[in-house]
Amino acid sequence: MLSKILFLTVVGLSSLHPARSQSTPSVCDNSTILIDSRRALTAAQECTTVAGDIVIQYASDFPATIEFPNLELVDGNFLSIDFDEDIRVTRLSAPKLTTVAADVYISRWVNLTTINMPVLTTINRVRLNNLPSLTSANFLSTLETIENNYEVTNTSLKEIRNDKLSYAVFVEIFDNKALEKFELTALKNSSYNVALRRNKPGVEVSLPALKEVFYFEFQRISSLEIPELERAIGHFVVNDSTVETLEAPKLRDVGGWYDPSISITNNKGLLIQNSRSLKSISFPVLEAVQSDLVIRNNSELQDISFPMLRRIAGNVGLEGTFESVRFPKLDRVGGVFSLGNDENGFNCADLREFKNNGTIRGDFSCPQYQEPPTGGSSQGEPKEEIEDRLNRTSSGTGFESFGSFNAFVFAIFASAVLSVL
Ligand SMILES: *[C@@H]1O[C@H](CO)[C@@H](O)[C@H](O)[C@H]1NC(C)=O
Ligand SMILES: *[C@@H]1O[C@H](CO)[C@@H](O)[C@H](O)[C@H]1NC(C)=O
Ligand SMILES: *[C@@H]1O[C@H](CO)[C@@H](O)[C@H](O)[C@H]1NC(C)=O
Ligand SMILES: *[C@@H]1O[C@H](CO)[C@@H](O)[C@H](O)[C@H]1NC(C)=O
Ligand SMILES: *[C@@H]1O[C@H](CO)[C@@H](O)[C@H](O)[C@H]1NC(C)=O
Ligand SMILES: *[C@@H]1O[C@H](CO)[C@@H](O)[C@H](O)[C@H]1NC(C)=O
Ligand SMILES: *[C@@H]1O[C@H](CO)[C@@H](O)[C@H](O)[C@H]1NC(C)=O
Ligand SMILES: *[C@@H]1O[C@H](CO)[C@@H](O)[C@H](O)[C@H]1NC(C)=O
Repeated sequence: MLSKILFLTVVGLSSLHPARSQSTPSVCDNSTILIDSRRALTAAQECTTVAGDIVIQYASDFPATIEFPNLELVDGNFLSIDFDEDIRVTRLSAPKLTTVAADVYISRWVNLTTINMPVLTTINRVRLNNLPSLTSANFLSTLETIENNYEVTNTSLKEIRNDKLSYAVFVEIFDNKALEKFELTALKNSSYNVALRRNKPGVEVSLPALKEVFYFEFQRISSLEIPELERAIGHFVVNDSTVETLEAPKLRDVGGWYDPSISITNNKGLLIQNSRSLKSISFPVLEAVQSDLVIRNNSELQDISFPMLRRIAGNVGLEGTFESVRFPKLDRVGGVFSLGNDENGFNCADLREFKNNGTIRGDFSCPQYQEPPTGGSSQGEPKEEIEDRLNRTSSGTGFESFGSFNAFVFAIFASAVLSVL
């Protein structure tokens, strides 16, 4: 029942699309073409241009393939959200479709193996979700512009590749149990996130053009190519992965976004953890982590070196069997510094010097790991404390305010709206 209500909300919002023409009323001019029977499907199949939304709902008499042979443009959404009954169609095809002005959102077609939209280039957002049989969706590669989301969740796709999209707000790739490769080779900027979670272990990730991202989050990956990444405005997380090396040759800045009037609720800083194959990390130009720096439970990682890192606004938590830990340029740690080393004989003296001379403002613990206080970055901390810390840590190279702020707020809003759907 709830889904019906949500459906009406969606349709209600989208019926703001003006009908194309009053004089030649046809199904194609409807503000919503509701396809919930074979008969409705047959009527819709004549359309070349649709003035409003296409909404597909369960019908017991659907054929195995739903095709829109003439369709070129949808001025609204192309939606099929779950309405109590799983749709059993195996193939969805729109061979001439180039543009969907709003969203393509297909969910819970449990038997769908193929989405054939070979010339689709322009969309506001794509959301594929709960399509466990899906092994082919060619439009993911043909898309050239997207205004918002690129979301692929719970499919059987082996590869997700696109070499045309340069911008997105959300890029979320979750629960794809067959995924082996993820390559967005033209993506320069993702203003909310790029996140992989709970996919098949060992996804190879290539983001060769990515320069800026808000939240960067990778789980269960086996390789990561980010040669151009300069800034992760929110956080940079690699977790539970089988990467052997982690290289971010141009990354200068992590966690730089801060607006005192809005508390960052989920900023994890620079976090590298639970990756048992990781042998080396390289962050040769990283200068600032305006939040926490945490490297833990990567059993093969022995050397940690951040040659240019000067400021860490939050806590530092390092745990493992390290042989060397070097921060030659460090001049500020806003929170605590905790290093736990399982190996006997690790020499903490050099690091302790940073505490003695005031570089580290919080407690110092080495070689015993002391769990840093949670929320040591900005969570739940009084505004004044964060400001004070940032004021101190930012003196010098200057702390910028970021243009992505609006996009961020927008993204939060969009996220809330989407999670209702
Ligand atoms: C077209 O819209 C009208 C009302 O707006 C609706 O009654 C009718 O079912 C729609 N036709 C189709 C095919 O969706
Ligand atoms: C469709 O999927 C359901 C649920 O996974 C399955 O039981 C059924 O056999 C499938 N039907 C076809 C025609 O593949
Ligand atoms: C994937 O989608 C199917 C079909 O809706 C659902 O039964 C299954 O629980 C989903 N899996 C995950 C991990 O969400
Ligand atoms: C790290 O991965 C583990 C296991 O996959 C998960 O439970 C945990 O929430 C992840 N933590 C972060 C910070 O992503
Ligand atoms: C350490 O990482 C391994 C994976 O490399 C994981 O299985 C284990 O649960 C992690 N330990 C802790 C304490 O998180
Ligand atoms: C504090 O000590 C560290 C480690 O010896 C050194 O690298 C750093 O330059 C010192 N900083 C100041 C301000 O003395
Ligand atoms: C930090 O700097 C800002 C801007 O320069 C200033 O308004 C604020 O009062 C400072 N806060 C503290 C705690 O020093
Ligand atoms: C990334 O996109 C955001 C939002 O559109 C914009 O504010 C920011 O300047 C862009 N960054 C780069 C490096 O292009």
